[in-house]
Amino acid sequence: MKLFLDSAETDEISEGLAHWDIDGVTTNPRHIATAGKPRLQVLQEIADLVKGTDKPVSVEVDPHLQRWEEMVEAARKLAAMSPNFVIKLGASEDAYRAVRELAGEGIRTNLTLVFSVSQAWHAARSGAAFVSPFVGWKEQHGDDGLDLIADIATMLAMHSYPTEIIAAAIRNPRQIGHAAVAGAHCVTAGMAVYRDSFRSPYTDMGHEIFGRAWDATPPD
Ligand code: E4P
Repeated sequence: MKLFLDSAETDEISEGLAHWDIDGVTTNPRHIATAGKPRLQVLQEIADLVKGTDKPVSVEVDPHLQRWEEMVEAARKLAAMSPNFVIKLGASEDAYRAVRELAGEGIRTNLTLVFSVSQAWHAARSGAAFVSPFVGWKEQHGDDGLDLIADIATMLAMHSYPTEIIAAAIRNPRQIGHAAVAGAHCVTAGMAVYRDSFRSPYTDMGHEIFGRAWDATPPD
């Protein structure tokens, strides 16, 4: 399962590239707003960080766009900025048409804000490179987000669609592990969640126990 960093902070992305060899980046309008710089400047800085690699960077078109023609036009502009850019479109009937047009032009898309298998199926048959079910948003409201990942994975495999699942809006290490087992091809989460995913209180306890044993052993 590929590790994507969900962020538009260039410091975080540089750190993720250097220390974890992250496989790609996902951004959304909220991350871009948090970066506190003009949108195109942030995107160009991220593009520069991954230049010369094959690491995909998901960048979202204006979420206000309603018509597929407008989405396609916006997507083309973003795609022209970097070969790494994968264009994120929020699920809607027009977005699927945009996905199909863009696939025909060789522009990769990531269908985002996906909450059902049928939305993922439309993305796959329209030619989306990625589909992003939002695990954390579902679970926050009492639904099982991880069952959704498993069902989408089954649907894609059963019908041999090459679309990859990005398990998105991941809030904790448990969701990372379960997304991998459920068949997600990629996971995207923030820096803090990945930091937590390296750790376990049992590991800390073990370090303490073995450290004490080490100290209690007669020196060589
Ligand atoms: C995924 O691609 C999204 O950027 C992200 O996971 C959305 O959710 P969040 O901003 O609530 O984490």
